[in-house]
Amino acid sequence: MMIQARRIALAAFVLLGPVACVGDGSSGPVAGELATAAAPRLVAPSDPTRSRDSYVAKSRKAMVAAAHPLASEAGLKILQEGGNAMDAAVAASFAISVVRPQSTGLGGGGFLVAYEAAKKHTDVFDFRERAPLKATRDMYLDAKGEPTSFRYEGVEVPNSSVNGHLAVGVPGLVKGLLEVHAKYGKLPLGKVMAPAILIAESGFPVYKGLAEALEERQDVLKVFPGTKKIFFRQGKPLKLGDVLIQRDLAWTLKRIAAKGAAGFYKGEVAKRLVAEMQRGKGLVTQKDLDQYTVKHQEPVVGTYRGYQIVSMPPPSSGGVHVIEILNMLAGDDYGGLRYGSTASVHLLAESMRRAFADRAEYLGDPEFVKVPLKGLVSPAYAKDLRKSIDTSKATPSTTVKAGQPMAYESASTSHISVVDGAGNAVSTTQTVNWSFGSGVVADGTGIVLNDEMDDFAKKPGVPNAFGLVGNDANAIAARKTMLSSMSPTLVFGEGGKLRLVVGSPGGPRIISATLQTIINVIDHKMTLPDAVHASRIHHQWLPDELKIEKDGLAAGVRDDLEKMGHKVVEGGAIGDVQAIEVTPEGLVGVSDTRSEGMPRGL
Ligand code: DON
Repeated sequence: MMIQARRIALAAFVLLGPVACVGDGSSGPVAGELATAAAPRLVAPSDPTRSRDSYVAKSRKAMVAAAHPLASEAGLKILQEGGNAMDAAVAASFAISVVRPQSTGLGGGGFLVAYEAAKKHTDVFDFRERAPLKATRDMYLDAKGEPTSFRYEGVEVPNSSVNGHLAVGVPGLVKGLLEVHAKYGKLPLGKVMAPAILIAESGFPVYKGLAEALEERQDVLKVFPGTKKIFFRQGKPLKLGDVLIQRDLAWTLKRIAAKGAAGFYKGEVAKRLVAEMQRGKGLVTQKDLDQYTVKHQEPVVGTYRGYQIVSMPPPSSGGVHVIEILNMLAGDDYGGLRYGSTASVHLLAESMRRAFADRAEYLGDPEFVKVPLKGLVSPAYAKDLRKSIDTSKATPSTTVKAGQPMAYESASTSHISVVDGAGNAVSTTQTVNWSFGSGVVADGTGIVLNDEMDDFAKKPGVPNAFGLVGNDANAIAARKTMLSSMSPTLVFGEGGKLRLVVGSPGGPRIISATLQTIINVIDHKMTLPDAVHASRIHHQWLPDELKIEKDGLAAGVRDDLEKMGHKVVEGGAIGDVQAIEVTPEGLVGVSDTRSEGMPRGL
């Protein structure tokens, strides 16, 4: 055990060290190549020292795809020790909480879709954050109805729904993962959590994405002493190659391993968390922690060209809109339109525009508002929407209010896909929302606290950090769950056989990234590596922009789209997909070249 454990710690240095991955010379897309060809424009590895092959793994037995090698490694180790997909997913989740504190963690929440092969049964876990009991509809608005900034010990940081203690929703991740483990796990909790504890204690080298996230978020992070203590050295954020050790987080993880949910929601950890909230006038109390429950809904299900799409229902908008967009595309021979062609990008963007307009209007926590779910995923409704798409020009989005420029790139949120030898599968997306969540670490616990409250519509029509607008359906109320775009998805093919496990981070771009991975496989007949690495587009109705990745479209296609009335905006990565395909030859695991992931097969 000790030797294996040490191997994991060493893996941090081996896998991430500068000599670990020798480049294969693969380069970015060639401008113009797609004007005539159907070959996908592949996104170059974010780490130039890594080959494209290092983002792909194959196995006949089992597979974990996560957004950091150590998290995949943690899941793999648990599979090797006889754990099932659920054990491995829980192990990888705790590990990713340690190695991607900018993305997710114990202070956050998420969704998990589990497939039990023996029973052909899909189970949905909703461990998203909830609004604290003291939360009120206008809590982020001043007397004039304008968004407030946040003050901590005399220092002002902008946007109190994103930065600081007031942004924090009641965390659900720990309870969720423990319930998944209790219901399906085979191995003891201590064993499943051991890799995460070890990585927190022995540390790992800061990688490019983490160093960049620290650099970008430093002005907020440095305001909070509990945060600064962990992520800064001599007043400066940790940089590439520095070793990040998280002793307090290891202490918290050990208490959870020993006491279960009570190790987080009660006792010393809870006390420190509540004390932190009081220090910064946050709203989360012990009563909130006591009342937190994981919810179980039926998955949302759709059909696309004979495949069954099973995904996350509200309070996520993810599954609903993946299915709604697929329904709009279903009437066309989308595959026949050629990947990356003007016609296919236009149809995709127009379908996304319509789905996101619905999101802003109708989606919210179904325990608080009536979501017209049946209609939104109905093929007949999509057929009507499809009729409103003009194939020759863009339909301008209705301007609700001038939006703030959408933050296009963000390092937060993380997806994990797992399939085991028995055919069980897990698709889970977890988050603290914005990069490093609220920026606040509950002092003495190592827990980075989320800023999920920003996923509510703080005022109708006022965009959140992702440029998303909403209205009453997603207004703040005590105990309510904020709307999400997270889309952990399973795709079943002929005979109900599992074909794909897929999901992504990226705020609203989650929906677009998940969707495009599915259509690249089903319509464009791409291999999974190509389907995941192919350049993506995104449209979210407002702002009225067609987002593309760098060099993501052939020049001719871009010109054509602009002539049709699209405002094409080139920016950073769209999503960070972690996916597994079940093929007749075995499992193919793929991590996105856009980030640090690395799949591992048994
Ligand atoms: O639940 C949601 O939709 C957001 N809180 C996810 C945030 C996210 O993916 C950030 N990543 N770039």
